[in-house]
Amino acid sequence: MSGHIDIPIGSLLPKGPLTPCALSVASANSGRSFYIETFGCQMNAHDSEKVAGVLLARGYRQVESAVDADLVFFNTCSIREKAAQKVFTRLGDFRDARGENKIIGVLGCVAQQEGESIFKRAPWVRMVCGSASYRKLPELLDGLEAGQTRVTGLDLDTDETFETEITRRDNPIRAYLTIIEGCDYACSYCVVPHTRGPQRSRSSAAVLEEVRRLVDSGYTEVQLLGQTVNSYRDPSPRGMSFVELLLAVAEVPGMRRVRFTTSHPNDFTREIVEAIDSTPALCDHIHLPVQSGSDRILKQMLRTYSRDEYLSKIDWIRSARRPISITTDIIVGFPGETEAEFAETMSLLESVQYDGVFAFKYSPRPNTSAKDMPDAIPEEEKSRRLAILQSRQREIQIARNQFLIGMEFEALVDGRHAARNQWAGRTTSNRIVNFTSPEENLLGQYCQVKIAGAGPNSLVGEHLA
Ligand code: 5AD
Ligand code: SF4
Repeated sequence: MSGHIDIPIGSLLPKGPLTPCALSVASANSGRSFYIETFGCQMNAHDSEKVAGVLLARGYRQVESAVDADLVFFNTCSIREKAAQKVFTRLGDFRDARGENKIIGVLGCVAQQEGESIFKRAPWVRMVCGSASYRKLPELLDGLEAGQTRVTGLDLDTDETFETEITRRDNPIRAYLTIIEGCDYACSYCVVPHTRGPQRSRSSAAVLEEVRRLVDSGYTEVQLLGQTVNSYRDPSPRGMSFVELLLAVAEVPGMRRVRFTTSHPNDFTREIVEAIDSTPALCDHIHLPVQSGSDRILKQMLRTYSRDEYLSKIDWIRSARRPISITTDIIVGFPGETEAEFAETMSLLESVQYDGVFAFKYSPRPNTSAKDMPDAIPEEEKSRRLAILQSRQREIQIARNQFLIGMEFEALVDGRHAARNQWAGRTTSNRIVNFTSPEENLLGQYCQVKIAGAGPNSLVGEHLA
């Protein structure tokens, strides 16, 4: 998500009926307020929107600052050590919560990973709940509201996904929608299978119903979410494949842009590219994490594909009729990664010419099989490799973006830089385009723009009348 914009929050809230039971709980809580702070990925951001929906249905009011809130939730990330540490630093700010009559809750991946030990480290915390247990949130809230000191939701053996009657969406332009939760891969560096549990898909009927409701409430763009979104398997008798679901979502009348993230290379099929080629509403962008360009490291990572297999999938994408942009995730400094193996990642960068790369220094995580692997790479060396990779990728992005100068694109406007008097929008390929316009309010509108300038991370355009 772009952090650069001033969007009015929640101007398009999907409506959902409250059941009589929910209504009585709601009136009991009227006047009470909550605040949620979210760390980490898009899945977490969207989980927070769903948690907010549960709280709103119970009568709580959402506030923008922890100071004013009766209930303060931290939705946490533990993908790398730094992210997990940040949460404990933040929790430290709330050590007086009990005296102030505030309820502090830890949700998400750190909650699942650290479990009840969080109560020891931060005894003022009163709720610990991992994402696989969010279904139990109403029950846990009942406990807190009845005065229970501590409540926990840490079960991982679930076959359910987390859905709410109302989801309080923060982004009024792009609606996020989970289609699959958890992960059945076992990448050796990754905590996700441990923190989010096994893979489970939502029924296609439920997904399509939600998409129709989103269109009814004004959305024209949706982003389907999952840790391995393209592993989707409809659990209902309809048995839709991922591509069938994509096409069905794109066909919902009024839906203009459909995105999906994150794809796993192993489940990435030619049909996905063909679907994008044949369906304008499917966006021109694929995020396909590679992690490393070295076969030996890929094996150590348990990524289940080779460099050549990955590159052949990139070839499918590059030979599409539409100019599909490609982004990726890369980890540098995995245990034992030699200089030559890092050079293979650099050569992969040259071959693919990505439109964007999220690159990370390897961080050992609890409950992962890579944690105790020998030959850890020193921190300074990881930083050196990261800097080399990022600097080369920056050049690639400048060149790729400059190539677009003079071309025309449709941008969906999702923000405004008040200081620069510019609107910010996204192309179907997910590039940011900033442009000036005499129009008073373009938020949520599709605008034709001609590209006049290009940097590594954004384009500058002229608004065509
Ligand atoms: N260390 C560094 N990066 C990691 N990622 C996942 N686990 C780790 C780890 N232990 C990165 C991967 C993944 C992205 C979401 O985070 O690149 O695709
Ligand atoms: Fe983690 Fe691998 Fe699953 Fe992605 S596919 S969430 S990197 S285990």
